[in-house]
Amino acid sequence: VKKVGVLISGRGSNLQALLDSARAGTLGGDVVVVVSNVEGVPGLERARAAGVPALALPHRGRTRERHEQEMLEALLPRRLDLLCLAGYMRLLSPAFLRVFPAPVLNVHPSLLPAFPGVDAQRQAWEYGVKVSGATVHFVSEGLDAGPVVAQEAVPVREDDTVESLAARILEAEHRIFPAAVCRVLDGTCRVVGRRVRVEAGA
Ligand code: GAR
Repeated sequence: VKKVGVLISGRGSNLQALLDSARAGTLGGDVVVVVSNVEGVPGLERARAAGVPALALPHRGRTRERHEQEMLEALLPRRLDLLCLAGYMRLLSPAFLRVFPAPVLNVHPSLLPAFPGVDAQRQAWEYGVKVSGATVHFVSEGLDAGPVVAQEAVPVREDDTVESLAARILEAEHRIFPAAVCRVLDGTCRVVGRRVRVEAGA
């Protein structure tokens, strides 16, 4: 069974989508560890409720190097096939990404490369775009910058508020993240330059 680790910082609704998909047998693997950089967040409870080991490794009061070293010590012994960032609101350093032995996937609430960084749904709404959406991408050096695995467009409605738009984008995230994880785990995805190719028959 393929092993997936998940990093979170808060609510954990995307983590829940991964847990639900694993339970339903559609993820192509199991979530075996969840790490939060913030203590006491709802996502940790979701993991525990699903019987998945969950730990808080706060970044506060630590240097980036020290914090990432602690994360590596928690993650490396698990021999993960994939690490998922599910609302993990910290940048992983180039040094972490160089030593981490498995691919890393992130879900982001916009159609990248539009609106990287924090509060992407608000950025899109304030810009006045007619379409936004959600993106799953491989994590590489740079903010929200790696090759795109999956995207779903979400039209902006006349009567949308930031909140109503964000809620529909979140539903899209919950659809494309588990599906993208499955495609990466079953090996039908191949990164060719910036392009993520899905092999025929998949
Ligand atoms: C999600 O919308 C996710 O895309 C976003 O944080 C939210 C976390 O919600 N991530 C980023 O903005 C990363 N740049 P969740 O904790 O309920 O999954």
